[in-house]
Amino acid sequence: MENIKLPVHIAVIMDGNGRWAKEHNLPRNEGHRKGTKVLENIIKHANKIGIKYLTVYAFSTENWSRPQNEVNGLMKLFMKYLDRNIKKAMRDDIKFNAIGDIDSPNIPSDLKEKIKVLQEITKDKKGLCFNMAFNYGGRDEIIRACKKMMTEISLDKTGNSEITEALLSSCLDTANQPDPDLMIRTSGEMRTSNFMPWQLTYSEFYFASCLWPEFTVKEFDKAIEEYSTRKRRFGKSE
Ligand code: IPE
Ligand code: IPE
Ligand code: MG
Repeated sequence: MENIKLPVHIAVIMDGNGRWAKEHNLPRNEGHRKGTKVLENIIKHANKIGIKYLTVYAFSTENWSRPQNEVNGLMKLFMKYLDRNIKKAMRDDIKFNAIGDIDSPNIPSDLKEKIKVLQEITKDKKGLCFNMAFNYGGRDEIIRACKKMMTEISLDKTGNSEITEALLSSCLDTANQPDPDLMIRTSGEMRTSNFMPWQLTYSEFYFASCLWPEFTVKEFDKAIEEYSTRKRRFGKSE
């Protein structure tokens, strides 16, 4: 990884857990369990190589429409993930941050509580900022940001009520964070499925054909190497 231009912020759509389980004659939730292990390796690796922000799509606002048994299994996995990380937070330098509609009544209250605890005890960490997109929908995020923005404007005593990109950005769940430079999606699907529509405007996309439970650190590095060769123009000529 020498002479490589590292992305500051990487976003990942972890897709293909269900298909992986099916291929192995396992229940879908086993695919999600294996997927969590892969995620933990990637977080560790991203921190080690100096990535500053990693945002992963863990559960979308649309994923509630899956069978109850699968949704319950996913909630249990998140709970276990949070418990493990609350325990080892002292030893880590990773900052945990949830993005998405975390205050929704659909989210079990003990899960909400653990999210708040992990955020609070890691808030001053100086290593990787790990954003978990949970009950996240890009359109929902923009709507919530608009509501927040309207309140801020009406409270603004300076009389400055101009709506700007910077103001809307500052009302998103990713406020104060740079937009992703690179977006990786596994499983061969080539769509964004309501993931970060505002923030991915100028990101480079990398589609891996492997399923998420098969994704490796090597494949992650390959995506970074490919990113490093891309010429980003941001609308300029040349
Ligand atoms: C991604 O894997 C995990 C979540 C959406 C929670 P999928 O469960 O979507 O797996 P496929 O796409 O059905 O294979
Ligand atoms: C996107 O994957 C959501 C997550 C990875 C959490 P989906 O599997 O839900 O997306 P679609 O339905 O294939 O577009
Ligand atoms: Mg999927």
